[in-house]
Amino acid sequence: MLFHNTYGIDLGTSTLKIYSQQNNQLTKEMNIIAVKDKEQVLAVGNAAYEMYEKAPDNIEVGSPMTNGRIGDIEKAEFILQMLLLRASRLIGYHPVLYFAVPTDMTEIEKRAYHSIAHRGSLKKSKVFLVEKPVADAIALGIPISRTKGSMIVNIGAQSTEISVIASGRVIISKIISIGGSQFDEAIADNIRKRNNFLIGNRTAKRLKFAMGDLKAQGREGRKIVGVDSVSGLPREGVVTSMTVNQAILRCVASIGDEIRNFLDRTPPQVHNNILNEGIYLSGGSTYLKNIDWYLSSRIGCSVRLSQHYDMCTIYGLKELITHKSLHKWAYTIKKKKK
Ligand SMILES: Nc1ncnc2c1ncn2[C@@H]1O[C@H](COP(=O)(O)OP(=O)(O)OP(=O)(O)O)[C@@H](O)[C@H]1O
Ligand SMILES: [Mg+2]
Repeated sequence: MLFHNTYGIDLGTSTLKIYSQQNNQLTKEMNIIAVKDKEQVLAVGNAAYEMYEKAPDNIEVGSPMTNGRIGDIEKAEFILQMLLLRASRLIGYHPVLYFAVPTDMTEIEKRAYHSIAHRGSLKKSKVFLVEKPVADAIALGIPISRTKGSMIVNIGAQSTEISVIASGRVIISKIISIGGSQFDEAIADNIRKRNNFLIGNRTAKRLKFAMGDLKAQGREGRKIVGVDSVSGLPREGVVTSMTVNQAILRCVASIGDEIRNFLDRTPPQVHNNILNEGIYLSGGSTYLKNIDWYLSSRIGCSVRLSQHYDMCTIYGLKELITHKSLHKWAYTIKKKKK
């Protein structure tokens, strides 16, 4: 008998999440590829991330995505095939792929999803697209057909997607280029300014994980290794939680202001429903301690955190794949008329 499999795929800028229906498992790996001399793939996924900021100049280590959108089709396709194999060992005959995609996509961007899913062992796949806020809404238990207005804010690695669902569809959506990577860059930048000390984004990310807290009051210090920006020599330094959180706070404040502006542009009835219901938050950057508390006070409305965090969208895809009644939220790309 021929072996078929259905997958849910959330191509994030930092991590690629996969649902494999055959083994009913959700997996995630860094969406990173390491390429030597522009042609030889050395590693993909978590192994490639190990080389980030450590590899020599002739080895390029990065994501095929830019701000939540496909930037490099060939690399995206290569990583996808490798990680699908890792997730389920056998891709199977005529696989069915459900991709979570941004709402405001051009035809060219839609075709990019088709292109990455129609080569190599994916050649005969059937592709469905599901808008990310729709997948998030399913995971959050929002009744998409009935809601009079629900706002979902997904804060990822290089993008924040703000969307409003009402009367069975996404009525407005906006992607801004701020996410966890921008928090990391802001931390490194603040340390350079305040401590004359250069650190990489990887170290900044570690500081964010260890000290990031938008309610933090203290000045806890942490020893790190970096480069003195005056002498250019490596040295140890101490970074305080204030330096770290001040940087993160500026980024999250911008996200809060964008949400408030967006909210002001929604029709009154939708607006009222959002305020009554509270704004839903999803995405990996909402792991940041007290981000819900901070955004709630900045926007002046209650905020509800998804307990799925970065796995919210892929969890929604899993639900959609598993329940036929939800298939209506998936769509295919219409073939161009000749
Ligand atoms: N404990 C944590 N504290 C703060 N940030 C975290 C934590 N865990 C993960 N993150 C951040 O979450 C981000 C990844 O989230 P997510 O997987 O939702 O992004 P993505 O889908 O890859 O990106 P995008 O949606 O922008 O394409 C990273 O920037 C990471 O640093
Ligand atoms: Mg994402």
